[in-house]
Amino acid sequence: MDRPRNIVILTGAGISAESGIRTFRAADGLWEDHRVEDVATPEAYVRDPGLVHRFYDARRARLGEVEPNAAHAALARLDAQWPGELLIVTQNVDDLHERAGAKRLLHMHGELNSGWCLACDERFSWDGPMGPGAACPACAKVGSVRPDIVWFGEMPYEMERIEAALRDAELFVSIGTSGAVYPAAGFVQTAKYVGARTLEINLEPSQGSLLFDERRYGRATVEVPRWVDAMLASK
Ligand code: APR
Repeated sequence: MDRPRNIVILTGAGISAESGIRTFRAADGLWEDHRVEDVATPEAYVRDPGLVHRFYDARRARLGEVEPNAAHAALARLDAQWPGELLIVTQNVDDLHERAGAKRLLHMHGELNSGWCLACDERFSWDGPMGPGAACPACAKVGSVRPDIVWFGEMPYEMERIEAALRDAELFVSIGTSGAVYPAAGFVQTAKYVGARTLEINLEPSQGSLLFDERRYGRATVEVPRWVDAMLASK
């Protein structure tokens, strides 16, 4: 197939790295100086909700200090101009894709700017600190609002929609993700199974790099605009 119409793009922490948001799997194996199991599991939240809230409150506050970069902007441009189906599936909980203008976007691991009430099951947008004493804007209960983040051991959001998009995909592109966390790490296999072409753009080969038909290694702010320009020139 020379000209794919339907594109699914998976993004991970690497696309936001040059905006100043740290990736997860740094060389020291820690995430912002914490072990992942101390802050990103439902068990951690039950054990020490104050610690988990402080951690996510700090990540949420960080959003006010960073800006989308050229890679987010390029994907927003592709989204606006691409005539075929397109879906950006991000594992990131930051809001940099939408602030760059992306519309055909879903957050499979939740969002820092969203809260979830465990008492009434409502989800709502959230600005500023949350803390263990937050009141639910829907049911008013105090102390039952948690970050609307998909933690380890929890089911990612919108899997049916993602799988439907992958089934129709002619091109699957993975950007800035280490390929360490399932189910996102398995999307390339689904895409290949339905006959889509697959492209990886990352700083270095990911864990599943050999599964990709094409691999481009470099900084997202360089490689993503380059790829988007070529796609839009060919449309
Ligand atoms: N440009 C492109 N790629 C980059 C850049 C950059 N400037 N900087 C780093 N990378 C690459 C790294 O080489 C690495 O392969 O981005 C990848 C980031 O990998 P991770 O830190 O593992 O992040 P991600 O794949 O998004 O993690 C998946 O794990 O902890 C969970 O739920 C969390 O959504 C997250 C999931």
